[in-house]
Amino acid sequence: MVKRITVMPGDGIGPEVTEAAVEVLRAVARRYGHAFQFTYAAIGGDAIDQYGKPLPDETIAVCEASDAALLGAVGGPKWDQQPSHLRPERGLLDIRKKFDLFTNIRPVKAVPSLLGSSPLKEEVAREVDMVIVRELTSGLYFGEPKQRSPKSAVDTLVYTRAEIERIVDQAFQIARTRKGKVTSVDKANVLETSKLWREVVEERMTAYPDVEVEHMLVDTAAMKLITNPRSFDVIVTENMFGDILSDEASVITGSLGMLPSASTRTDGFGIYEPVHGSAPDIAGQNKANPTAAILSAAMMLKYSFGLHTEAAAVEEAVAGVLEDGYCTGDIAGEGKRVISTGAFAAQVIEELEREF
Ligand code: NAI
Ligand code: MG
Repeated sequence: MVKRITVMPGDGIGPEVTEAAVEVLRAVARRYGHAFQFTYAAIGGDAIDQYGKPLPDETIAVCEASDAALLGAVGGPKWDQQPSHLRPERGLLDIRKKFDLFTNIRPVKAVPSLLGSSPLKEEVAREVDMVIVRELTSGLYFGEPKQRSPKSAVDTLVYTRAEIERIVDQAFQIARTRKGKVTSVDKANVLETSKLWREVVEERMTAYPDVEVEHMLVDTAAMKLITNPRSFDVIVTENMFGDILSDEASVITGSLGMLPSASTRTDGFGIYEPVHGSAPDIAGQNKANPTAAILSAAMMLKYSFGLHTEAAAVEEAVAGVLEDGYCTGDIAGEGKRVISTGAFAAQVIEELEREF
């Protein structure tokens, strides 16, 4: 299979962790006989420095000519004083909107060797394995009017039936490849948009008789994520609820450096990136944890290319390296061997090649 992949390293540890992910993808291509072509493009602070803006036309063109994109992270103290249209984060918001990436997918899976660093009790965090599917291009963050006067402020929460249908369908399709359960999170006791959301879920679920559906109010969901996170398989929700719940869920695994994410649409194109930021405090030291970036690459294999076997092999290789006790400084602990970003990627590749 020939695939064109845009690589946007970005700022801080972005280049280090994306390089690790690219090396792993090269190993996947060798092992399974695929051809992955990588084209590099600038985003965030890197793009501001080179082109004077966080999302240059050159980068958009490279993405348009590719099948999927891998992104590192953006931002850093160097650009903190810029006006908002010239801030690195603007590049991320703009690229998601530009490519209509309405589905944000964030898996949260407990790592056995890291259960000790979870803020939850080990027996609660163990076996957590869920995916949060968040609507990313509509809702309160985008609704008009958005206004400010000295005595009041307005934000608008609007969802169309079509916007709800397409995100709900994505969630059903993901649930089919997993445990087959969807929890739709809303605030239907108060919000009109949530009532519509619930109606659409009820309509769409008839097309997926193999998937179990439950409705849950967002406040209940926030509690359940702490008291019984194992009960979730796929959570689907609107933009703001998803923003909050996915950050809440992200702490369960014990390290930011472990969590991948995807922002996709229905034709296969997607942008894959770690949940963490550019970590300026450890940038350029070859000690960042590349796990989130490598698992983001695995999500690309799965969601953009349909390469499920290859994706599973990468996930297993990462799990194997962690089980062998190798780690980066952020997840160091008793009996563990701390190695560099590059060495961690090399271990993953060795494991991947050994699995034959
Ligand atoms: P951060 O995620 O960059 O770092 C938080 C803490 O976690 C730091 O101590 C960092 O060293 C550590 N950390 C993060 N990723 C790690 C990894 N892979 N390996 C080891 N340790 C890791 O969040 P922070 O400090 O709030 O933001 C730093 C910059 O990143 C800011 O400019 C912020 O705007 C930007 N940012 C960018 C995001 C993105 O590109 N998607 C998301 C969040 C923040
Ligand atoms: Mg957030």
